[in-house]
Amino acid sequence: MSVHKEIKKITTRTLLDMKQKGEKIAMLTAYDFTMACILDEAGIDVLLVGDSASNVMAGHETTLPITLDQMIYHAQSVVRGVNHALVVVDLPFGSYQGNSKRALESSIKIMKESGAHAVKLEGGSEVSDSIKRITSAGIPVMGHLGLTPQSIYKFGTYTVRAKDEEEAAKLKQDARKLESSGCFAIVLEKIPAALAAEVSKSLTIPTIGIGAGSDVDGQVLVTHDFLGLNKEFSPRFLRRYLQLHELITKAVQEYSKDVKSKDFPNSKEQY
Ligand code: KIV
Repeated sequence: MSVHKEIKKITTRTLLDMKQKGEKIAMLTAYDFTMACILDEAGIDVLLVGDSASNVMAGHETTLPITLDQMIYHAQSVVRGVNHALVVVDLPFGSYQGNSKRALESSIKIMKESGAHAVKLEGGSEVSDSIKRITSAGIPVMGHLGLTPQSIYKFGTYTVRAKDEEEAAKLKQDARKLESSGCFAIVLEKIPAALAAEVSKSLTIPTIGIGAGSDVDGQVLVTHDFLGLNKEFSPRFLRRYLQLHELITKAVQEYSKDVKSKDFPNSKEQY
């Protein structure tokens, strides 16, 4: 008799069913094997190998410098730790914009080399040809509207997007375009809650919000932020579930004290 427990894997179909049943989707970012194991075992639905790795892993000011090969390295590490969650990988800046053939090649490279389940890209109607081309190769695509950090130098600021009528109308149009082009879900970042609610209601595919209120189909946070590893970044939408920055600082101070006072290692902690 097999003692192996059947593991229910999350697919893009599962997410669509969740939206239909009104069941919210929980998504977090992951960039390495150990964290992916913990988040997956804890039951997270979706793990995003976000290009926020450029900020939180590499220390860059923006998401622009991270390369396709670096994203694949992070994605490979995450995929090795996952049994249940859907793994989505960001197409990095410069790997898809303005060229649908390049977008397809970058997506194929990610899927082949990392074993991930889907890709994500930023933008509206301007990336619809790329979405059609990538999905026609059987690769699921997640969209991303609102604050799109790869365009930070166009916006000039990380403040809330689509507050005025013109930008809100464009976002609604873009959301419909992403759905008709084949996206299986859309991230809505830092937009008014009422607009996110309206967009979510108008689509059959799920929306995943970050700073987009509660009337969306799921939520995503950057894991380093939600664990409180970073004490400087405090946007209004962020709820910190732990204060790891403080806990780690205390642990390091205690360890240093024990080493210097020769308390560590003691007689039981040696061979
Ligand atoms: O790169 C990332 O972490 C993201 C999320 C903020 C949605 O795109």
